[in-house]
Amino acid sequence: MMSKMGFTGGLGLGKLKQGRVAPVETTQTRGRLGLGSKVPDVLAPANVIWDSSAEVIDFKAKLEWMPPFHQPVPSFEEMNSWVVIGRRKEAIEDEIQFCDPEVLSEVLNCKTVFDSLDEKQLRDARTRSNPFETIKKVFFQNRAAVKMAEIDAVTEFMFTNFNQRNDDASNVDAKEPLYFADVCAGPGGFSEYVLFRKKWHSKGFGFTLKGDNDFKLEEFLVGPPECFEPYYGKNGDGNVYEPENITSLKDFIYDNTDGRGVHFMMADGGFSVDGQENIQEILSKRLYLCQFLVALCVVRTGSYLVSGFRKRSSSSG
Ligand SMILES: C[S@@+](CC[C@H](N)C(=O)[O-])C[C@H]1O[C@@H](n2cnc3c(N)ncnc32)[C@H](O)[C@@H]1O
Repeated sequence: MMSKMGFTGGLGLGKLKQGRVAPVETTQTRGRLGLGSKVPDVLAPANVIWDSSAEVIDFKAKLEWMPPFHQPVPSFEEMNSWVVIGRRKEAIEDEIQFCDPEVLSEVLNCKTVFDSLDEKQLRDARTRSNPFETIKKVFFQNRAAVKMAEIDAVTEFMFTNFNQRNDDASNVDAKEPLYFADVCAGPGGFSEYVLFRKKWHSKGFGFTLKGDNDFKLEEFLVGPPECFEPYYGKNGDGNVYEPENITSLKDFIYDNTDGRGVHFMMADGGFSVDGQENIQEILSKRLYLCQFLVALCVVRTGSYLVSGFRKRSSSSG
């Protein structure tokens, strides 16, 4: 039929026999992705047969402690000499003082794969790679609460049992509730977990940015919200970058703990780094520094800080 219409095999379909001669290739799409959307190589279907018996699911998380630091604390002058004032640094490739340059560059290459994934692909990949994903948030308000539960469990409940330990009586008074602070902490899953464990034997002080991610006390369903007090600092905005907020938070906590500070503090600050995911660690430095500063101000001697560090490979730290 085509040759009757003037078509010559091997030539194009155009009036002057121009146009493509190769057959149109079939396009492989993933799920409901539209034609033409690119699938990164790492996600292309691989000829791998999954062998469930080869999968080892190690559900007891291993705890690795950093060795204690025994050298003398640097002097104030020496620490001051570390401060460099200049333009805000937004590059990570040259951060090789504490990292092997080759490892750093490989990690960055691997992370770049995420740039070509959409949100659903990322979520699917996370679901497939984490055998515990189905645990979700259990009966808490969010998954963060489950994360804090795990941290507490692998450390033999050293946080929620802090006020029951008897190794250093100077920090612990059996008649006191367990005092804790939760900083950069909205909507409050970490605190909900602690309240779930300790009920009214605890008292939490919450500090977080006002706005969309504020505490959701109405969702503290498994722990008493009455034992939790949000505080937004002198400026009233809950911003941990503001020195007045830090000082007033410290005063507030000392006023309410008989001048002794909290038994432990949790800090889990994070913000959207859309489009700048590979330098997330650099962008978050200021937040971590301020959280450490708050911890130094509000925890009593011998107590602990649990800090979340955001890294690009999970939705949270
Ligand atoms: C991942 S969420 C914390 C989740 C929380 N641990 C939980 O269990 O629900 C990060 C929080 O850090 C807060 N944050 C980010 N920047 C902040 C800042 N400058 N000051 C105070 N909070 C901040 C965000 O508003 C958000 O509530």
